[in-house]
Amino acid sequence: MLLRIDDLARRYGPSTVFSHVSLQLDRGEFVALLGESGVGKSTLLNCIAGLDRPDGGRIVLAGTDLATLDEDACARLRRRHVGFVFQAFHVLPHLPVAENVALPLWLAGEPRMSALQRAGEALAAVGLAGFDARWPAELSGGQLQRVAIARAVVHAPQLILADEPTGNLDPGTAAVVLDVLRRQVKEAGAACLLVTHSEAAAALADRTLRLTPTGIVAGTAASTPAASPSAAPGG
Ligand SMILES: Nc1ncnc2c1ncn2[C@@H]1O[C@H](COP(=O)(O)OP(=O)(O)OP(=O)(O)O)[C@@H](O)[C@H]1O
Ligand SMILES: [Mg+2]
Repeated sequence: MLLRIDDLARRYGPSTVFSHVSLQLDRGEFVALLGESGVGKSTLLNCIAGLDRPDGGRIVLAGTDLATLDEDACARLRRRHVGFVFQAFHVLPHLPVAENVALPLWLAGEPRMSALQRAGEALAAVGLAGFDARWPAELSGGQLQRVAIARAVVHAPQLILADEPTGNLDPGTAAVVLDVLRRQVKEAGAACLLVTHSEAAAALADRTLRLTPTGIVAGTAASTPAASPSAAPGG
């Protein structure tokens, strides 16, 4: 079990974003997470990555309970095991494209030249061969999104958290990007939690989950669950 979430809750002051969220993710699984805007999908990914702290419940990633880690230890675990495609890309504007992609490798101590070479390969895999020296400001929104995806997979993380990674892409490019994520999962034994509003993307997933304010339910049905259903694998 790569990721296990039990009875998670997140609140802002008196208002509860979600509660009773439980989820299990195995290596080799490609799982789509659906849910209405504002229901807390990005918040949940941030909690899993240790970028946000839940108000209740437990997250165990690669055998480690995140609540037992201080911020530094959490950052190390994240760098090592997690690739994150943020909804807002977070591509650094003052670094050329290849250096943006190489960042996770440098943070892991990989030498500059081999890191840049692997970054170039990751860029080629998302259809951006030859873009290495370009500046982020010279790219379209969809190209920037693909840079973010290349950066999320370049260090072969065990867990890929992707927040609407195909939102700005045409169907053909979206298929290329989803294939990159799927290959990482199936060939490298990683797992991917993919937040998406796209039915085409959800259709590629091994299973589909829906986040609601009162928990996660299996499948795409828009119905609200009674309380704390935990989504079983393989459903
Ligand atoms: N710092 C904050 N203070 C108060 N409320 C917040 C804060 N950050 C997020 N929220 C609220 O938490 C809820 C969940 O936000 P989140 O971004 O996780 O939703 P989402 O499911 O990712 O939505 P979308 O599909 O639009 O990206 C929203 O209602 C949002 O307004
Ligand atoms: Mg979001």
